[in-house]
Amino acid sequence: MTNALVEEQRPPLWERYADQFPVRRNLIYLNHAPLAPLAGPAAEAMRNLADDCARFGSLHYDQWMNAYEGLRVAAARLINADRSEIALVKNTSEGIATVALGLDWKPGDRMVGFREEFPANFYPWKRLEAKGVTVTWLSVTDPLDQIEAACRGARLLAISFVPVSHRVSGTARDIGEICRRNNCIFLVDAIQGLGAFSDRYPVLSYRCSGRGWAQVAVGPGGLRHPLCSAGAARPDRAGGIRLDQTSPAMPITRPAT
Ligand SMILES: Cc1ncc(COP(=O)(O)O)c(C=O)c1O
Repeated sequence: MTNALVEEQRPPLWERYADQFPVRRNLIYLNHAPLAPLAGPAAEAMRNLADDCARFGSLHYDQWMNAYEGLRVAAARLINADRSEIALVKNTSEGIATVALGLDWKPGDRMVGFREEFPANFYPWKRLEAKGVTVTWLSVTDPLDQIEAACRGARLLAISFVPVSHRVSGTARDIGEICRRNNCIFLVDAIQGLGAFSDRYPVLSYRCSGRGWAQVAVGPGGLRHPLCSAGAARPDRAGGIRLDQTSPAMPITRPAT
């Protein structure tokens, strides 16, 4: 039997996973894109971590690091990337700001932004504009040939999945193709679609999620950002864990006697 046939005979995906969503006992929930209810296992993992931290402080720090590693591998699988391309960030906004403020913008550089974007994907570009980068502001309803014209000579185009999916004249795939043709970095804020859509973008410089379908609640996000590894962009801030660190610093802890 072929894999496709086996898949066809199984119950639909939503039936297989329905039990894992406790929210269904209370509500018919139709707002998964902006703020999704958590799946039971995701909520359980968060509770366990909080409980561990409350009872043992940082004693199990190495296990937390393993969880980070598992998350990177799973995030890479979800978006067809390599784990080395995934950086974990605090949330979507931080991911976008990391790209915006971390690229080595030069005088005369230009990027393409969209007026209707979420604040997270609007203000970082406004800030760059104030620093001398030219921003060509478009509307998400502008036709594709206008987007193509704007991309000619531009360094980056930033758009989020939501306005893209509302477009009448094109999709993220079309815009990705335009960016590829024009050698323009294609930045997609995929928070409201990642996890629900398995679309593989032809050109994808960046994907990021936090809440929504990806089951990570408000806060953590993932950033696919090969530009960082290529040395073209440098993060504008640092956290507690170095990217090249393979084992965490040993926490100062001792069992109670
Ligand atoms: C499209 C989009 N981008 C960015 C954000 C901000 O997300 P975060 O809180 O992860 O920074 C949201 C929040 O709803 C959003 O819907």
